[in-house]
Amino acid sequence: MRTQVCIIGGGPSGLLLAQLLHMKGVETVVLERQTRDYVLQRIRAGVLEWGSVAMMEEAGLGERMHREGFVHTGTYLSAQNRGFRIDFDGLIGKKVMVYGQTEVTRDLYTARDAMGGLIVHEAAGVQPHDLQTDAPYVTYTRDGTEHRIDCDFVVGCDGFHGVSRKSIPDTVLRTYERVYPFGWLGVLSETPPVDHELIYANHERGFALCSMRNDHLSRYYVQAPVDDPIEKWTDDAFWDELRRRIPAEAAERLITGPSIEKSIAPLRSFVAEPMRWGRLFLVGDAAHIVPPTGAKGLNLAFSDVHYLSRALIARFIEGEDEGIDRYSETALARVWKATRFSWWMTTMLHRFPDQTAFDQRIQETELAYLESSVAAQTALAENYVGLPF
Ligand code: FAD
Ligand code: DHB
Repeated sequence: MRTQVCIIGGGPSGLLLAQLLHMKGVETVVLERQTRDYVLQRIRAGVLEWGSVAMMEEAGLGERMHREGFVHTGTYLSAQNRGFRIDFDGLIGKKVMVYGQTEVTRDLYTARDAMGGLIVHEAAGVQPHDLQTDAPYVTYTRDGTEHRIDCDFVVGCDGFHGVSRKSIPDTVLRTYERVYPFGWLGVLSETPPVDHELIYANHERGFALCSMRNDHLSRYYVQAPVDDPIEKWTDDAFWDELRRRIPAEAAERLITGPSIEKSIAPLRSFVAEPMRWGRLFLVGDAAHIVPPTGAKGLNLAFSDVHYLSRALIARFIEGEDEGIDRYSETALARVWKATRFSWWMTTMLHRFPDQTAFDQRIQETELAYLESSVAAQTALAENYVGLPF
């Protein structure tokens, strides 16, 4: 089979890229290792920057998002059980959309189906070849049969553990990494959210976050040791811990119920450079990981798609190579800013095992400064709602 762009990975970045290219007449094939149900059942990100909202609209997917999503004009931070609000709208006239990654992915699948685009699910042993030539190709196995897709470009949208980044030789690839000494224990529960906005809480027992998916579905997280056995965290243990870490008035309002999903995720900052090697481009988690504290992972994947979709369209429609030649540099400049912001939010809000009394005072002062300074709040707001593309 032949196509123009072979996309490895059918997560949100691969599907959005496929949709935007298809709308401009560029042919794509998407190869996904998992089944569609598996991809749709992954509970991940919850907050879209306004630039990501605009990209969903551009892809023709604004309707359900605007009907079912929740626009947030600010967020709460709390320290020592006392909250204060960062007013995005009041400070910089911007907002974010609470619309889960599960819904984003579902909308993207529906759109791909509607246009008859090909997604090969359960593609095993996916392997790109000849990426330094003008005739790259990708092989994979499905139902015991080997297949080959010839293409002009290969795009790696296959997440942190995918095959694409590993295709770049060690002599070329530079990686930068910080692994944080804790994880996030996340719970999804069919209960009304404790507040109509998010609460990010710094507490001496560790970080906590109150988020949501809709009026009847809450998403909560507490900082926890990454190797804690999940059985240790009964629902009661989770709710007790969450109550302790959030402002007292929120704890009193908290409605609890059975968890319908519970898992512990590790926290890591990771950037791989460059994001292009010959005919291969890396997009999203395949190239970079941020800790979830700033709600940037999915949004960063979308900003890569923004740059790469325009670059590939210019290449195929106008024969213009500048965008693809500059993709790595342009995408990385924004990636590093989001990496810095996510690291800063993580450092400010979590309890580190080796935190000294000095570190503790600095963290408290950072939060006190943020509460008192419009300039500091403005800096948080402009990063949280998303820096311009
Ligand atoms: P992915 O969503 O990882 O998609 C990659 C796709 O490629 C997958 O479908 C995978 O099955 C497929 N694939 C992998 N390898 C291969 C292969 N060899 N061949 C073919 N297909 C392959 N971000 C937030 O902002 N907030 C959160 O709360 C949050 N929670 C998260 C929780 C977890 C457990 C994880 C792992 C991530 C979380 N993230 C969160 C990050 C966010 O979900 C990601 O940044 C986002 O999914 C990136 O999208 P992507 O399309 O680049 O990668
Ligand atoms: C959610 C996750 C985040 O990492 C975050 O910063 C905000 C919200 C969520 O899953 O709802």
